[in-house]
Amino acid sequence: MDGTAPGRQAEKVDRGGLGPRGRGLFGRLLDGLRAAPTVRREAVTIAIASGKGGTGKSFLSTSLGVLLHRANKRTVLVDCDFGLACDHLLLGVRPTLTLQQLLAGQATVDQVLCTSPAGLRLLPGASGVRRMANPSDKELLAFARELGVLAAREDVLLLDLGAGIAPSTVLTMLAADWIVLVTQPEIAALVDAYAVVKSIAQLNERARFLVVVNRVATKGRGELAFQRLTEVARQHVGVQLHYLGEITDDNAVTQHRLGQLPLVATEPDAPTSVCLRALLDRLEMSCGGFVAREVAGDQGIEARFRQHRLFL
Ligand SMILES: Nc1ncnc2c1ncn2[C@@H]1O[C@H](COP(=O)(O)OP(=O)(O)OP(=O)(O)O)[C@@H](O)[C@H]1O
Ligand SMILES: [Mg+2]
Repeated sequence: MDGTAPGRQAEKVDRGGLGPRGRGLFGRLLDGLRAAPTVRREAVTIAIASGKGGTGKSFLSTSLGVLLHRANKRTVLVDCDFGLACDHLLLGVRPTLTLQQLLAGQATVDQVLCTSPAGLRLLPGASGVRRMANPSDKELLAFARELGVLAAREDVLLLDLGAGIAPSTVLTMLAADWIVLVTQPEIAALVDAYAVVKSIAQLNERARFLVVVNRVATKGRGELAFQRLTEVARQHVGVQLHYLGEITDDNAVTQHRLGQLPLVATEPDAPTSVCLRALLDRLEMSCGGFVAREVAGDQGIEARFRQHRLFL
């Protein structure tokens, strides 16, 4: 970089040593090259968020991840619950390296990625590392860069977030293409889900929210809860939410033991597994397919993360 403004750089090139005819042709070619935006292919990025803790984000992320893998989509689940990661436990892997080493520059993304017994690849987070709960600016930028690296080679990135609205969580939501908001019918979970919508919509009015109501006791209860949530979001922050569906409160999920494969893998015909597949189909429709798509070089997930970081 020589510090020259882009417009002035263009001026310099146009005054090259070619004669008027040569410069005309050459200049037009250069103009064409300058005008062509750099385009790259990137994964569909889906952040799974909640506000309130324990609503089922990790259960949903790992289940959708396994289903996506089985549908032959190139998928990586990133455990973005900085400091309190647990996806490795739900997927039955024991990582030796985590995001902590990756963000410190002590390991590459390929060294940290691990393949779970169900086939899904996981970028594990650090667990019980207090310092990681509050990543430094340098670590956040490294995180953005690694998300960009992964997005450039996958079809889908699932980003399982921690509860709450810590800066790293908000940034990841702002950078993702879609936000799947996992809530429960109880008022505390709905209030926190609304708080997430409000805080994100203030920073990015184009954020797209898809709502899952988890642990419903009776059929249809999820949609009622969604209607209350979307009405409040529409009235108070002018945001339109979209309903993805409900998941029943199921003992088979709660009693699932650590180290066991996810329910969708061990019992694909169980009612909750069938429900999760239907949910994935609706998610695919909402996202316009689970395939990498072209984005301008300055619009990718890394760039979005960096842009929003400036305003947080
Ligand atoms: N549909 C369900 N039926 C029964 N139990 C469920 C269901 N969904 C999740 N659970 C249980 O709820 C608990 C919390 O789930 P999970 O860890 O996925 O939540 P979370 O939102 O990721 O939590 P955190 O905010 O701590 O990251 C787990 O014990 C899980 O087994
Ligand atoms: Mg979790």
